[in-house]
Amino acid sequence: MNKKLKWGVLGVAKIAREKVIPAMANSDLYEVYGLASRDLDKATAAAREMGIPKAYGSYEDLINDPEIDVVYNPLPNDLHVPYTLQCIRAGKHVLCEKPLALNAEEIDELIRARDEKGLKVGEAFMVASNPQWIKARELVRKNYLGKIKAVHGFFSYFNVNEDNIRNIPEMGGGGIWDIGCYPVFTSRFVLEKEPGRVVSMLEFDPQFRTDKLGSVLIDFHEIQMTFTVSTQLTPYQRMLFYGEEKIMEIRIPFNAPADQKNEILIHDGNFLQPDPEKIVLPLSNQYTEQANDFSKAILEDREVPVSLENAQENAKVLQAIFESDRNERWVNID
Ligand SMILES: NC(=O)c1ccc[n+]([C@@H]2O[C@H](COP(=O)([O-])OP(=O)(O)OC[C@H]3O[C@@H](n4cnc5c(N)ncnc54)[C@H](OP(=O)(O)O)[C@@H]3O)[C@@H](O)[C@H]2O)c1
Repeated sequence: MNKKLKWGVLGVAKIAREKVIPAMANSDLYEVYGLASRDLDKATAAAREMGIPKAYGSYEDLINDPEIDVVYNPLPNDLHVPYTLQCIRAGKHVLCEKPLALNAEEIDELIRARDEKGLKVGEAFMVASNPQWIKARELVRKNYLGKIKAVHGFFSYFNVNEDNIRNIPEMGGGGIWDIGCYPVFTSRFVLEKEPGRVVSMLEFDPQFRTDKLGSVLIDFHEIQMTFTVSTQLTPYQRMLFYGEEKIMEIRIPFNAPADQKNEILIHDGNFLQPDPEKIVLPLSNQYTEQANDFSKAILEDREVPVSLENAQENAKVLQAIFESDRNERWVNID
């Protein structure tokens, strides 16, 4: 067998500590070998706690370590493009957290660098590796719902911590970048279409200056998609796909738990006696699936789950949402 891929992680981020690194234990394909922080003591303590062999006191030290094959980048959103670019230039494969870029055009430079070096680079939309979303796409491909005419999404949490990266506009904070990216991505994923135009209405927090509530209408060419996201509402999430024959409901679309079987509900119109068909998926951890898929893309020279080109299409939609709100009009997506 080939040697295990050695992953390095930039920053002791909450998502890395709580979800992604624990989900990557016990693989035959890879190991989390290094953890970097701006503070060596913090990196050392966290690496020890999580059983990671090597700690670094700067991101550059990890990026330039020849032992590291692939870097996971969960830094604040504004640091995604610059550090991903540094990693590629240092010859590393990179899995970068969502949203990969705050400006779709910046992804061009990543694509050029990736192609020059012949590396695998992708956006960490774990939903793309989650069996419930793969099943949902398969059902739509098989026309199980009949012709889909509408999609609706909702995603919210309550976070008014002024130190949190989500409430700092300079770091790419706000609801649309943080969670609006999910209904957009999963709609594109399931419908296998790119939208034509968007119109939106956003409300900004007067103190943080980040968008705290947003509603969006997206024209997916004869499919109307609407969603609402908020960083200051009670936590909730749901995605619904409305077909001429059936409606598909993804109960826990984004933070799908690893210790519960995910369910897709299929409603057939009998809403007075609601007893929907339940499609129950086997237990799975979407962060493990993501790491497996990305590692296999490297080891077997396959396409990564969410390519830079795919990330660029998502970023275009998110940018158009801000432009629409600013100018109070429809914005075409080119
Ligand atoms: N896919 C998912 O399910 C998911 C879920 C949550 C978040 N995310 C994404 O993951 C990323 C991190 O989110 P998070 O909530 O985990 O963030 P977080 O806990 O605030 O961590 C961000 C890390 O970035 C590093 N950093 C570098 N410069 C910084 C600066 N100027 N200010 C603050 N931190 C700085 C810090 O590491 P050091 O101090 O160790 O250097 C910090 O721990 C975001 O892009 C977010 O969108 C994805």
